[in-house]
Amino acid sequence: MRIIPIASGKGGVGKSLLSANLGVAFAQAGQRVVLVDLDLGASNLHLVLGHQAPKTGIGTFLNDIKSDFSTVIADTDVRGLRFVPGDTEIPGTANLKASQRKALVKRLLALEADTDILILDLGAGTHQSILDFFLLSGQGIIVSAPAVTAVLNAYVFLKNTVFRLMYTVFAKGTAAYDYLDKMRKDGSGHQHLYIPKMLPEIKNLDKVSHEKFMDHISRLHPRLVMNMIDDPKDADVAMKIRRSCEEYLDLKIEHLGVIYRDTLQDKALSSRLPILLYKPQSILSQGIYRIADKILESDEGKLVLDMAEIENSFQEAGVEAEIDFENKMDYVEDLLHSGALTPGDMVETVKSQQFEISKLRKENNFLKLKISQAIARGFDA
Ligand SMILES: Nc1ncnc2c1ncn2[C@@H]1O[C@H](COP(=O)(O)OP(=O)(O)O)[C@@H](O)[C@H]1O
Ligand SMILES: [Mg+2]
Repeated sequence: MRIIPIASGKGGVGKSLLSANLGVAFAQAGQRVVLVDLDLGASNLHLVLGHQAPKTGIGTFLNDIKSDFSTVIADTDVRGLRFVPGDTEIPGTANLKASQRKALVKRLLALEADTDILILDLGAGTHQSILDFFLLSGQGIIVSAPAVTAVLNAYVFLKNTVFRLMYTVFAKGTAAYDYLDKMRKDGSGHQHLYIPKMLPEIKNLDKVSHEKFMDHISRLHPRLVMNMIDDPKDADVAMKIRRSCEEYLDLKIEHLGVIYRDTLQDKALSSRLPILLYKPQSILSQGIYRIADKILESDEGKLVLDMAEIENSFQEAGVEAEIDFENKMDYVEDLLHSGALTPGDMVETVKSQQFEISKLRKENNFLKLKISQAIARGFDA
């Protein structure tokens, strides 16, 4: 069974659109496909598929992890495509308990018996559990849009994935683990955590862990999809992500292709049909078919982590908070150095952030006003 996790770091770049339509394309090509909405808490994959709001889904299973998983797998109108809805009732992938995540991974892997391709539509963010779902395969897809924030998020996601892999592969108590921990604690003020710089030092300290990591990372080949481009030159951004990944993460990413922004998608959504069924000839559908073909032609994606390691990774809940490299902002530096971000891009980002801040401030003031009015009316807080 080929596992294809689809991630982005940030929402709104087209993960669900790509997941649903790849599912349709693979099924049309004769594959037995299961499509899973893992964006728990913000599930909307059913909308892209044109399904009614589901009554049962992963949330149903997670509330009783001993229950029969097959009852939450729904059939779709597309022959060969089955669908596991998420559940808006539960708070989000990030909040799953270790036991829930473990049970879910086990059930997903067990689908192997009658499934050729398992597509995982991942939630936004770089939380540990999302990284672990991404690492279930060596060939996860990372979706980005040409906008600077989307590119940043894609890079940050990949950077966190590599560090997550290190933390998972290095056993606690080994010299490699201690080194990694020390690097992290020393913080970004001293030096950036560049993989090509760290690896020789790790090799020196701990040959066994180093070899183990090299074995895993050699099987990690994330694939990029650049969505929502308006202009051919928007596609150049992909090269910049690639260069940053090679230079700072020692990570070879593959480019699966670009997808244009297409206004027909809105019509497809309101017609309750995936775009591949609504307008197979559209530029959007053609882009997706091209990507589907590339994936089908490529080799079987192997598991990067074996089951024992996945188990282990889920148990290490304690590491969760520590892995948050995202806060460190190192990545801005990486992207500046590699030329992926120009100072002009930074100015644009700051401007848009300032817009967000002023919007939030207004909302905040509005809410404060409402609270004070409520208190004045004798509202019992
Ligand atoms: N190439 C595209 N052309 C037009 N609309 C798109 C395209 N890709 C995504 N969209 C729209 O953008 C919005 C976000 O896409 P979605 O797949 O829900 O993103 P995500 O799952 O990453 O949050 C949706 O309304 C979707 O229909
Ligand atoms: Mg989505």
